[in-house]
Amino acid sequence: MDKETFIRQYSVERKQTDSLKWDALEERFGDSELLPAWVADMEFSVPETVKNALAERVAHGIFGYSLVTTDYFNAYKGWQERHEQTDFREEWLSFSTGVVQSLYDIIDCFTEKGDAVIIQPPVYYPFFHVIQDKQRQLVTSDIQFVNQRYVMDLEDFEQKIIVHQPKLYILCSPHNPLGRVWTEEELAAVLAICEKHQVLVLSDEIHSDIVLTGHRFCSSATVANGRFLDNLILVNSPSKTFNLAGLLNSHVWIPNEKLRTQYNEWAKEYKQTEFSLLGQLAAKVAYETGDDWTTGLLATIEENYHYAKARLEAEVPDVVVADLQGTYLMWVDLRAYVAPDAIKEVVQDKAKLAIDFGEWFSPEAKGFIRINLATPPTNIHQAIEQLIAALTA
Ligand SMILES: Cc1ncc(COP(=O)(O)O)c(C=O)c1O
Repeated sequence: MDKETFIRQYSVERKQTDSLKWDALEERFGDSELLPAWVADMEFSVPETVKNALAERVAHGIFGYSLVTTDYFNAYKGWQERHEQTDFREEWLSFSTGVVQSLYDIIDCFTEKGDAVIIQPPVYYPFFHVIQDKQRQLVTSDIQFVNQRYVMDLEDFEQKIIVHQPKLYILCSPHNPLGRVWTEEELAAVLAICEKHQVLVLSDEIHSDIVLTGHRFCSSATVANGRFLDNLILVNSPSKTFNLAGLLNSHVWIPNEKLRTQYNEWAKEYKQTEFSLLGQLAAKVAYETGDDWTTGLLATIEENYHYAKARLEAEVPDVVVADLQGTYLMWVDLRAYVAPDAIKEVVQDKAKLAIDFGEWFSPEAKGFIRINLATPPTNIHQAIEQLIAALTA
């Protein structure tokens, strides 16, 4: 589907629909008049086929206990064969109600209070929260900006592992908020360090389908022909790709049988999750029929990114827009124009935008913002013009 058709057919007004992004502005930002470009969901409705399947199910009117449909996994396998070619096996799979929930579960199951857990900021802030909430020791190895590119600092990463001996590494792949799609070589290097020091890897691949032209997603599961499978837990979900977060259906993949048994034993005691009937139906139909819709979505994200980058570079040339390879989240360094402490005043009070502030992702990232691009271009045009006006005032 071309982007014009996609935008025309799938753009939706979300105000006053109990949307966190649009209807919690007063509560979250103290200003209900802001233009929201923050939390990672979209102003695009699901593929028509998904809407129809849900409508049919709703018309049936029964929402009792349910089964995982027998063809759920086949739908996912088909999607994988057509897209990322990750050879996920059905026996590795358990369901959960969300990827963040799974971060909490995996930490609970595979580490003890006081154990160290390593992450690479700036990174999705629930990675910090889960470590702190679960009273684990936070170990960080910051991603570096080298030659206009965000890269892992592998020397520092290994050194931190040697010193702090973390039990777990939470990898964000593709990376939110930096927009990197890690190459197989980069992943092989970081996974080899973890293997060498026996650090279990939790690979959060929720953004794996949102990859821009010229880049290819490589799952940690396929790196070096699956060499690291035994030391991996993967989490992903249809929720970013198809805008389904509210339907509470996500995946946990554990290839190693011993680790899987440990998780299943833990789950028996702590996690009696029922399946989300509507979440699974929506995901299954989306995986079966959502290819064309996804093409339109990706083209729209790409257009929004190129527009925003070009406008910012033309009007405020010292703003640094990170190279967006994956995710629909654009990472922008405003420090050439705004003192880090004035960022809220400029972006929120003057530009009237609700965005994710850099400091949510790292204490070192004050002065950066993350802008959500999964919205009709008119919203991006408005957001970027408001930002330019505030920066040049
Ligand atoms: C890296 C990452 N993991 C997890 C999530 C949230 O997943 P869920 O809604 O399934 O908890 C997000 C949402 O933006 C994310 O960026």
